[in-house]
Amino acid sequence: MEIQLWRETLEPYALAVDELILKFEYIIDEYRHVGAYSPIEQVTGRVKTIASIIEKSQKKGISLEHFNEKIEDIAGIRIICQFVEDIYKVVDIIRNRSDMRIKSEKDYIDQAKKSGYRSYHMIVYYDVETLKGKKELQVEIQIRTLAMNFWATIEHSLQYKYNQNMPEHIRERLSSAAEAVIILDREMSVVRDEIMDAQNTFTIKANIVADILTNIQNLYKVASKQEVIKIQDNFFRIYQDGDQDDLEKFSRELDLISQRYRAQSLH
Ligand code: GTP
Ligand code: MG
Repeated sequence: MEIQLWRETLEPYALAVDELILKFEYIIDEYRHVGAYSPIEQVTGRVKTIASIIEKSQKKGISLEHFNEKIEDIAGIRIICQFVEDIYKVVDIIRNRSDMRIKSEKDYIDQAKKSGYRSYHMIVYYDVETLKGKKELQVEIQIRTLAMNFWATIEHSLQYKYNQNMPEHIRERLSSAAEAVIILDREMSVVRDEIMDAQNTFTIKANIVADILTNIQNLYKVASKQEVIKIQDNFFRIYQDGDQDDLEKFSRELDLISQRYRAQSLH
C-alpha cells in the first residue's frame, strides 16, 4: 500500500479519537455540573503509528491490505478511574450509548493477564463522517484505575527497555507490584464512600463560589461601586469564616439582589 493511501486510511481514526475524548470529557463535565462524583477521572487517546501498525501486522501475519479490519487498536482510548467500581459504571455507560456498538469485551480485572496486567477492554465500532461519507471504525477502549495505570505504564516501559527479554528478577518484582496494586485498589474501595463525600462537598462548594463570583462580576456593570465592594467584602468574610450553609445563604441573597437589578434595568 502506498504511503499516501496509508495516511488517508489513518486520518479518520484521528477524528474518532478526538471526538471520543471530547465525548468522554463531556461526561465528566455533566457529573461535575450537578456537583456529583464522576466515575471517569481522566481520558486520553492516541492513533497507532504507521511503524507500530507494520510491526504488529508482521508479528500477527496480517496482510497490510486488511490491517484496518484486523488491527483493532489503531484508535485507542484510555479511561482512568479512581476506583474499581467506577470501571464497571463506565462500561455500563458505554454499553448504553447509541454512538458506540460493542464488538467485544475482555475483563482482565476479573482475570488478570499472566504478566499481572489488569484493565477492562472494549472494542467498539464508531462512525465518523468524512467527505467520502460515513466510515465505521474500530476503537479499543481501555478502562483502568489510577493504580492499574501506574503499574501498566511502568511495566510497559520495562518491556520496551528489555525488548521481550525481561530478566526473571524484574518479572518477579512486577508480579508482586501487581499484587500490591490489587491490595491498594481494595483498600481505596473501602474508604471510597468517605473520599466521595469529601469530593462532592468540594465540588458543591466550588460551584457555589463560581456562582457568587459571576454574580458579583455582573453587579459591577449595574450597581454602585461602593455596594459591590461591600458585597465582595462580605463574601470574603463568609468564605474565610463561614461554613457551606453560610455560603449557600449568601449566594441566594446575592441572586435576589441581582434579580432586583435586572428587573430595574428592564424599566
Ligand atoms: P495485542 O496484540 O497487544 O493487541 O493483544 P491482543 O489483541 O490479545 O489484545 P489484549 O487485550 O491482550 O491487549 C491489548 C492492549 O492491552 C495492548 O496493546 C496493551 O496496550 C495492553 N496490554 C495487554 N497486555 C499488557 C501487559 O501485559 N502489559 C501492559 N503494560 N499492557 C498490556
Ligand atoms: Mg489488541
